[in-house]
Amino acid sequence: MDAKRHSCAAVWPLLLLAMCIGVCRAHVALTFPPARQPAWDFLDSGRTPPPCGVPKGSLKTSILSGSTFNVTWHLGYPHRGGYRIQVLDASEKPILDLTNGGQQNKSSVFVEGDPTALSYLVQLPKDLECRDCTIRLIRQASEWGKNYMFWSCADVDIIPRPEYRETCSGHGKDIAGRCRCNPLYSGHRCQYRDECSEDKDCGRHGKCVNLEATTYPKKQCFCEMGWFGPQCNKHSCCRHFRMT
Ligand SMILES: *[C@@H]1O[C@H](CO)[C@@H](O)[C@H](O)[C@H]1NC(C)=O
Ligand SMILES: *[C@@H]1O[C@H](CO)[C@@H](O)[C@H](O)[C@H]1NC(C)=O
Repeated sequence: MDAKRHSCAAVWPLLLLAMCIGVCRAHVALTFPPARQPAWDFLDSGRTPPPCGVPKGSLKTSILSGSTFNVTWHLGYPHRGGYRIQVLDASEKPILDLTNGGQQNKSSVFVEGDPTALSYLVQLPKDLECRDCTIRLIRQASEWGKNYMFWSCADVDIIPRPEYRETCSGHGKDIAGRCRCNPLYSGHRCQYRDECSEDKDCGRHGKCVNLEATTYPKKQCFCEMGWFGPQCNKHSCCRHFRMT
């Protein structure tokens, strides 16, 4: 009995951590190309060093020179001001503005007018080859100060056609120039993942729910009371959720 209570208590720190991840995921982080690890979304100009808040890591995405694609990001809640997307060279100096100096507002280098934007269609120049480079998203949060902003960086190689090889992010097959994605994966490079596509992906004790979320995973497993983990396959000792 005692041991049982003990193991149940041990679940609490985990629950708190899970709650924190839910609540603390509050600002801006690139989802494609994927942000540097750890992909924290609270890297800001006030507390973290430029240009990106975290140093380069081992996660790198290959992108074809001249290609057109959506840069996408996660956003906890709307901030005031605009955003811009840049290419930084190998020494992390900005060399190109992919948002065209704020197309929608010529008086600003930031794209303004849509505080909930989560994607921006960019076109890379055909002649741009850039190894060990970085794509940086800057999102202003002017409600917290004139120069206050969040940044999120993704490390990339921008590679010309002859050398480019489509890997479909390792989650699909390139068939005649198009990625056919494995189950649960989507996006033109199979770069996004859902947790499930139907109830059976969540085992005998779960349901696949489409959260209609703005970022992936949009479909997630919801477990019956007393079950948790991948495919809801772990049995919890906490059978009743009684708070005292
Ligand atoms: C980019 O995203 C927009 C908005 O979600 C979508 O309508 C469009 O089809 C996407 N374009 C490409 C090339 O992925
Ligand atoms: C354009 O940017 C300026 C300066 O940031 C701002 O004052 C103005 O309201 C913006 N206009 C539009 C249409 O977003």
